[in-house]
Amino acid sequence: MKNRYWRLDARPDGTDFASALSLQNSELRGAGAGEITTRNHYLSMDAGTRMWMTDRTDGYQPPLDLGTPMSGLVMGEIIESNAHGFAVGDWVRAFGSWSDFSVMDSVMSGAVKLDRNVNDMRDHLGPLGMNGWTALWGVERTGAAKAGENVLVSAAGGSTGLLACQIAKILGANAYGIAGGAQKCRLLADQYGLDQCFDYRSSDLTAGLAGIQGGIDVYFDNVGGPILESVIANMALYGRIAVCGLIAEYADGTRRGPANFDQVLMKRLRVEGFFSPDFMDQGPMLTARLKTWVDAGQLSLPYDMTLGLENTLIAYTKLFTGGNIGKVLVELET
Ligand SMILES: NC(=O)c1ccc[n+]([C@@H]2O[C@H](COP(=O)([O-])OP(=O)(O)OC[C@H]3O[C@@H](n4cnc5c(N)ncnc54)[C@H](OP(=O)(O)O)[C@@H]3O)[C@@H](O)[C@H]2O)c1
Repeated sequence: MKNRYWRLDARPDGTDFASALSLQNSELRGAGAGEITTRNHYLSMDAGTRMWMTDRTDGYQPPLDLGTPMSGLVMGEIIESNAHGFAVGDWVRAFGSWSDFSVMDSVMSGAVKLDRNVNDMRDHLGPLGMNGWTALWGVERTGAAKAGENVLVSAAGGSTGLLACQIAKILGANAYGIAGGAQKCRLLADQYGLDQCFDYRSSDLTAGLAGIQGGIDVYFDNVGGPILESVIANMALYGRIAVCGLIAEYADGTRRGPANFDQVLMKRLRVEGFFSPDFMDQGPMLTARLKTWVDAGQLSLPYDMTLGLENTLIAYTKLFTGGNIGKVLVELET
């Protein structure tokens, strides 16, 4: 059987992914001991994977070797299994590759058998998956948000950010967002209950954030870069900065420390990074809590769908140009 897959040929320059990745054809190999093969139905587009495309070796994951398949989170149906606990026909979420089929070690890929008893299977790559876990952990644990506090989220219209905003509201906090464009900001406030959304592209962000009464207690940072400086200037005393991601710095490996870092001392701030694989073992508990909110209609996520493996790079680019609202997925024709 033929298997098409995206191969990383070179380190991409900015968002020029077409020059760095190519769609290849190969013969699908059989699953070895401990392996499963999935027919992929959805590919999850995740901003953090941009870092794996670079050659930096000090990230939380080593760089992908050139000439190898592009890795990513996939959801699909098992068509062959030599792994204990996984059967043909099961649906799983796992770290596979951007391909029609993925052959993976069931343990190393973090394969999780999925509950089919949900309204929308895509939720396993949204609120009920890694983005949901990350949002909940970052707001509640790392950010330690309490009812009545002011929680600010950057990349608020994206998958992780939009979930974090809604979770902040569910936990009784005030939710503020930062996003690109007045139209996106309006939609987030009107449809997702944000108390206010700040357009970082066309407004003076530092001045705008100064209007948050009482200052920012928790900053859920998805972006880093200059936005972080504007936020630090407006943090409340004893505020917490939960560092989830640094999307502004993934492409070129820029490291831009905030010029006003001194405010960490002056305001007695806590700055802490967190990383979802560190709390994978808590997944079932996190999913169960998130599912109660999804089922109650309190937590939802729009899906930005692109059809066809051949169009993967169009979908992926949206993460870095702000072309998405909610979760970016590629749906494969099966
Ligand atoms: N720590 C963890 O375990 C973990 C897990 C999952 C995700 N993350 C992080 O969460 C963040 C969001 O990832 P995601 O996969 O959910 O993507 P996403 O938020 O759905 O999409 C990325 C969004 O980032 C915004 N953006 C892109 N470049 C920007 C820039 N230079 N400045 C400001 N905003 C920018 C864009 O919206 P605008 O229109 O607002 O520009 C875009 O919609 C990433 O930093 C990712 O690494 C971390």
